[in-house]
Amino acid sequence: MAEHVLAVDQGTTSTRAIVFDSDARIVSTAQREHEQILPRAGRVEHDPVEIWTNTEWVISSALKQADLSASDVAGLGVTNQRETVIVWDRRTGRPVHNALVWQDTRTQTRIDRLIADGGVDRFADITGLPLATYFSASKIAWILEHVRGAREAAEAGHLAFGTPDTWVIWNLTGGSSGGIHVTDVTNASRTLLMDLRALDWADELLDLWGIPRAMMPEIRSSSEIVGEVQVPGVARGIPIAGILGDQQAATFGQAAFSPGESKNTYGTGNFLLVGTGTEIVHSDHGLITTVAYRLGDEPARYALEGSIAVTGSLVQWLRDNLGIIETSQDVERLAGSVEDNGGAYFVPAFSGLFAPYWRPDARGALVGLTRFVNKGHIARAALESTAFQTRDVIEAVMADADRTLDELRVDGGMTRNDDLMQFQADLLGIPVVRPAVTETTALGAAYAAGLATGVWASLDELRAHWREDARFEPRMDEDERERRYRLWKKAVTKSLDWVD
Ligand code: G3P
Repeated sequence: MAEHVLAVDQGTTSTRAIVFDSDARIVSTAQREHEQILPRAGRVEHDPVEIWTNTEWVISSALKQADLSASDVAGLGVTNQRETVIVWDRRTGRPVHNALVWQDTRTQTRIDRLIADGGVDRFADITGLPLATYFSASKIAWILEHVRGAREAAEAGHLAFGTPDTWVIWNLTGGSSGGIHVTDVTNASRTLLMDLRALDWADELLDLWGIPRAMMPEIRSSSEIVGEVQVPGVARGIPIAGILGDQQAATFGQAAFSPGESKNTYGTGNFLLVGTGTEIVHSDHGLITTVAYRLGDEPARYALEGSIAVTGSLVQWLRDNLGIIETSQDVERLAGSVEDNGGAYFVPAFSGLFAPYWRPDARGALVGLTRFVNKGHIARAALESTAFQTRDVIEAVMADADRTLDELRVDGGMTRNDDLMQFQADLLGIPVVRPAVTETTALGAAYAAGLATGVWASLDELRAHWREDARFEPRMDEDERERRYRLWKKAVTKSLDWVD
């Protein structure tokens, strides 16, 4: 029997394929970065063709490294950067525009108009989301308005919309010669177009944005066989059996299945999810409501999420825009070259501020500078901003739940930085716990696919795979912790004041 599971993680900066064995251990990994296209301030695009070519390459190369053929693999799980919009012509398979990435804020004016006309939460009851450029709806509408002939083609049923999961699966299953057009409930819940209760596209919202239903993919569960890979030479015949947005996949990979269980992923941005079971809970403190997962015909499970737009991507910015480090890994050493932040606080509101503020007009602020501050302090302030923003979100979680958290489970690339994890624990006053497998996003997608294809039998079996790698206990005294957090909040006010 085929006992391996393959996961494809189509992320914001790279695409990865990881093969897991039936003990959920990593057997092989392949990864390729794609270009971040930044045509002007506020615009962030990807080339969907490059993403697809990279996907083919990483799958072939992960299988080759593991010396496996398609028949050794029980199922493929797809996970992806969420909200990012790709629109393509079904007849040719060609995208009509570059992908508009979740960080892209070009639709701000339209969003502002809608907010002025009914408030930021006018669709929150149906969708669980505030009005923001972050989600897919305004980006699809932008493409229909700005690409010549797109609206007519969409109305005639020729155009397809998808988040990257949909695009990758459409291509994996044959593309213009017969690809399937699907997404899952977790990805659909990020579009601002899905009714959270009905788990279907909301006609009133499609109408409001002027998006024809014919463009929309079919919404499936997160764990079921939706089709088979059809690409010659690339894993042909493997069942595609799992789909989850990357943050939901990380939650699943951390085995945080039950109400009250949570995780915080440190990636391009940070995303904290807390499960609420079958209950749809609306936040009073700036968290969004999202689908956590749905297994086959079972009821959907929901979560509250604190989304932070810029954390890891601030390190890339230090590298690419300021040039004060050569590689992302250098940031740890540079930040470690100074005792503390030297009084500097960095609020990286490059796409406005997401949770819990939801202020698209906020702009980045670096405050507290004196002649003393050097690039070490700036690197430190940049890393610390990740921990401060996480505290903002945890404060919102605790205020909503009216209780404190016992500990914080973390994952993602930045969690390898022990100093940052210690600072996070110090700043929260609760232990921060890192699992042995920090590739939880790919693991979650693999779990979903493995459950649907019989590699694993139950959530309890998956839970048993979870192992602790490190636990960071808070060491900072409370006065100091609160003093620093107070200064951070002050820095945030500067970022919120910076309106053109
Ligand atoms: O909501 C955006 C999120 O899905 C992006 O995740 O890991 O690609 O930065 P990541």
